[in-house]
Amino acid sequence: MNSDTTTATDDFAARSFDLDGKTALVTGASRGIGKGIALALAARGANVAINCNTGGELAEKVRDEIRGMGRSAEYYAHNVADDAEVEKMRDEILGDFGQVDILVNNAGITRDKSFKKMTREMWDDVIDVDLTGVFLVTKQFIDSMAERRWGRVVNIASVIGEIGNFGQTNYAAAKGGLIAFSKSLAREYARKGVTVNTVAPGFIKTDMTDAVPEEGLKMVTSATPVGRLGLPSEVAAGVVFLASDAASYVTGHVLDINGGYAM
Ligand code: NAI
Repeated sequence: MNSDTTTATDDFAARSFDLDGKTALVTGASRGIGKGIALALAARGANVAINCNTGGELAEKVRDEIRGMGRSAEYYAHNVADDAEVEKMRDEILGDFGQVDILVNNAGITRDKSFKKMTREMWDDVIDVDLTGVFLVTKQFIDSMAERRWGRVVNIASVIGEIGNFGQTNYAAAKGGLIAFSKSLAREYARKGVTVNTVAPGFIKTDMTDAVPEEGLKMVTSATPVGRLGLPSEVAAGVVFLASDAASYVTGHVLDINGGYAM
């Protein structure tokens, strides 16, 4: 018996990358990778709720750029690590957009120091934002995705969560934890139409990496087969795929976007 039932008109032959009519929430989207993701999702048709902890001119610019593409956009200045602020943000976003179909947990911080010098505060700061923040925001939106039988959660981890790094025990623990969290969540929601995936970027040119000393970046570039840092738009392209119908059979995956830095 022939089990290949695909036909040229079958949508499985050409799964859609379009996000028309979907609403996305991107945390940490006022700049850097989050901004790149917000713009890319909007370019594919999504309306976008932009979160960042600061608000202000940067967030306004991202919002206005998305509106310029003909999509709805608004920004929400809330700390993802604060329970009450996250609940407030949920109410505001649902009031404005009605629902969230695509959640991209991108907000993240670093507080680098060798383990010997790392304080409890530096540990807590990073775990609170990079890991607990994802828990808090996802809690607010994933069950309504499951009720509608369609949803996408894409978590932005890091190559450091896979291979570790000197001076980043806190960050590596948070990002490695995020990968494990995402795989567990993927198993819980797979039958409810919600996929949960992780993108693990390598070194991407943003304000975060601008803070890395020149010498360190040179070492990274020479250890990267592609021979340069990545761009936010190159991370965003992977997120767009995972957020789309085209990725309907992809869940619990870790997508490395690192120029071959670790493979
Ligand atoms: P960035 O520092 O340029 O931007 C961070 C964004 O997160 C900003 O919009 C900021 O307002 C927001 N944010 C920070 N703390 C927040 C909080 N408590 N609540 C809400 N928003 C908050 O960072 P970048 O480089 O764009 O990184 C974005 C994500 O990608 C982070 O999770 C980072 O760990 C990850 N990443 C970055 C890499 C890089 O090379 N830049 C490499 C691998 C992962």
